[in-house]
Amino acid sequence: MPRALPRRRSACWPATMVIGPAGAAVWVQPAGTVSVTVQFRPDGIPVTAVDEHREREKRQAAPEFVDEPTCPGEPVPPVVEPEPVPSPNRFAALLDATRKTRSLSDLCDALDLAPGKLRSLIDEARAAGYVLHVEHDQVGWRTPEPLDHVQPIGVPPVVGERQRVGVISDTHFGSKYCLRAQLRDCVEYLYAAGVREILHPGDVLDGCYRFARYEWTHSGIEEQTRDAFETLPALPGLTYHIIGGNHDETFSEAVGVDVPQYVATYFRDHGRGDVTAYGNRGAHVKIRGAHVHLWHPRGGLAYANSYGLQKKVEGYSPGEKPQIMLAGHWHRYCAIYERGIHAIACPTFHGGLSSFGKSLKGGAPSLGGLLLEWETTEHGTIRNFASEFRAYFEREAPREIAT
Ligand SMILES: [Fe+2]
Ligand SMILES: [Fe+2]
Repeated sequence: MPRALPRRRSACWPATMVIGPAGAAVWVQPAGTVSVTVQFRPDGIPVTAVDEHREREKRQAAPEFVDEPTCPGEPVPPVVEPEPVPSPNRFAALLDATRKTRSLSDLCDALDLAPGKLRSLIDEARAAGYVLHVEHDQVGWRTPEPLDHVQPIGVPPVVGERQRVGVISDTHFGSKYCLRAQLRDCVEYLYAAGVREILHPGDVLDGCYRFARYEWTHSGIEEQTRDAFETLPALPGLTYHIIGGNHDETFSEAVGVDVPQYVATYFRDHGRGDVTAYGNRGAHVKIRGAHVHLWHPRGGLAYANSYGLQKKVEGYSPGEKPQIMLAGHWHRYCAIYERGIHAIACPTFHGGLSSFGKSLKGGAPSLGGLLLEWETTEHGTIRNFASEFRAYFEREAPREIAT
């Protein structure tokens, strides 16, 4: 919540200037108290004797005080402090102490806090997106679980019209292999085609896997989120809907922060409300009349690109079947239709020279984004589904040979 801050006011009083020794002047109040000493520069302009450097230091040390050239009785405008961006270090001691589950009384001793203050600190950390969990009197980290229930995105279906939704996946912001130019081009293409919602099934950030530490242009959660902020186009009416993948999860395990929530909060705190988080690893969402399952699986790609999709589709129970399933993680495009589900393994914007790209069985990753289109009936079924793959290559300019 914004809060009004205490202020320091400057006072006005009648005073008399007296020239002292060595060109110094003093201001004397009627009661005779010396209040300010002034030096004169060679050009005759008075210079206050207050050490400006020390004054600056004092202001930095106590930024909550604001100087105002006001006289008593003059109305003072309210000053509102901006909401701070959650810092991974703010709850460092608490997170460090709860890396292994401990009792509340243990924690009170370890952190030298009263039970009430400890409870408040835990509540603040949870509200800031940290994965702290309290069960009876035990406190520890709990890795976020995929959400099973359908979360409406808030765009009502329009029966009879063709619906369009964009997909970008595995962007791996922060990696030097993130194909930022292709990603921007893809988002602008989708926008021009009428897309106003873009779904992202995970690996938004590159994370902090040890094997990828020589592949970063941006290190740490804040820097990688800044990369996402600066790369994803902000276009009127366009919104991004994200879940976390295994690369995002590395930050959860390292510093206890819920990464999709952190990214959405970072965008909001920097003036953009166009990113919404729906959890980690999986989320069921309803968008433009269709039930979509965003999924970020574990494990590598099978020999056949469709194998992972088929196994997933087989595993849905009849009541929970989505109409569209979008899988991130494999970095290879594949689309199948089974059991009434349009199941798609999504392409990526992470280049083929990355560690993951080089480990892919059978060659290079599929680079690009998707334009999904369908029509909805009045009964909620979808018709004429189409998936258009806007493919890119890391190098698209062939060398010409003079003939
Ligand atoms: Fe990925
Ligand atoms: Fe992944």
